[in-house]
Amino acid sequence: MKLADNKATLSFSNGTPSIEMPVYSGNIGPDVIDIRKLYAQSGMFTYDPGFLSTASCQSGITFIDGDKGELLYRGYPIEQLANHGDYLDTCYLLLKGDLPSEKESADFHKLVNNHTMVNEQMQFFLRGFRRDAHPMAVLTGLVGALSAFYHDSTDITNPEHREISAIRLIAKLPTLVAMSYKYGVGQPFMYPQNSLSYSGNFLRMMFGVPCEDYVVNPVLERALDRIFILHADHEQNASTSTVRLCGSSGTNPFAAIAAGVACLWGPAHGGANEACLKMLDDIQKMGGISKVGEFMEQVKDKNSGVKLMGFGHRVYKNYDPRAKLMQETCNEVLAELGLENDPLFKLAKQVEKIALEDDYFVSRKLYPNVDFYSGIVQRAIGIPVNLFTGVFALARTVGWIAQLNEMIGDPEYKIGRPRQLFTGSPSRNVPGAK
Ligand code: CMC
Repeated sequence: MKLADNKATLSFSNGTPSIEMPVYSGNIGPDVIDIRKLYAQSGMFTYDPGFLSTASCQSGITFIDGDKGELLYRGYPIEQLANHGDYLDTCYLLLKGDLPSEKESADFHKLVNNHTMVNEQMQFFLRGFRRDAHPMAVLTGLVGALSAFYHDSTDITNPEHREISAIRLIAKLPTLVAMSYKYGVGQPFMYPQNSLSYSGNFLRMMFGVPCEDYVVNPVLERALDRIFILHADHEQNASTSTVRLCGSSGTNPFAAIAAGVACLWGPAHGGANEACLKMLDDIQKMGGISKVGEFMEQVKDKNSGVKLMGFGHRVYKNYDPRAKLMQETCNEVLAELGLENDPLFKLAKQVEKIALEDDYFVSRKLYPNVDFYSGIVQRAIGIPVNLFTGVFALARTVGWIAQLNEMIGDPEYKIGRPRQLFTGSPSRNVPGAK
């Protein structure tokens, strides 16, 4: 970051002397006011719940321009990455800063493939869960438990440990997500098949069974790869900030990523695609397409507490570029599987149509986000609704690691420790105490 030409001056109406603060510029995007010395100089904190105006770090990984609907990974537009190249090349890019050469790409694919199996003991750990446990509860546990199985790579200050734990996490997440699914449905776990692509392997571990050959459908393989690319990173969102904050204490990478998985679970974040499919199911139960209008009236009624899941975004206020790409994939997958006339998918199209035309949504710039379409694609592929967020976690793992490693390598990094505006009781005595 570089000092901007101007400075910010904070003045007070009560006669306290004004304070000058440096302003820094990034390469693109808004400048930031450096308030680090504000407390020392004024005895005051800033107040910004939800981090609406706060840059918590400097980062060179992902850039979003919410007004333009632009998403760049290491400078490359998401559209180009989604249309050329695969998820593992995107992982390489996010982790290392540049796209791999042909040889680097081949080596990286091989390296990840060499780590797809998980310690055999992990299945016994998994077996401790109820069969009907939510896969995100299972995954939070399994990812955290990796630190117990791979304690040769838990020192976050050691670059080699960071490197190997990154590869392990990227390689093993598909295996763990598929295992949590197989456990829930009572089928045998499928060991990874390293001759397949990353997404092909995941499809086989999910839907293959030991007694039959599994043939990967290339349209579904490509669709899943695209879901992974589009979800690989998204700047300082809630789960990424959680990973950074958790990792800032010096905890091991597996524990920090488990914290990210836990955060992602929430319906306002990664749980949105699951919540969206549940919403479509609910409308279906109310009577289907004929009830969409009635449902939309509930959404528009502020007192109902009903939101249109899969719509709106904190950052993208015009459109979500990932949603456009996912919409293409959605149409391809529905056509490939002959599901265009499936009632649920027709209902989704109707919801999309009404929301894009209705003044409530148009005036608030509420557009379908990536999760609206990724939920539909995953449902069409056969991924159960309660596993959607697990698939998101799998894809986002690389972003979390890249951000965590960037933070650890930043000489300005400190343990994260926000302050507060205290509104509770001032000091008082317990009855009887002096
Ligand atoms: N349905 C109905 N109204 C909405 C919705 C929605 N999905 N989203 C926002 N609004 C309304 C909101 O009530 C407010 O109206 P008003 O100005 O009259 O008070 C206005 O739109 C602005 O909303 P906001 O609350 O200021 O927006 P936000 O930036 O705080 O919230 C959001 C962003 C994503 C939390 C919210 O849009 C939402 O809850 N969407 C549904 C959940 C969802 O799909 N989340 C996935 C986000 S994409 C995945 C990811 O990147 O993590």
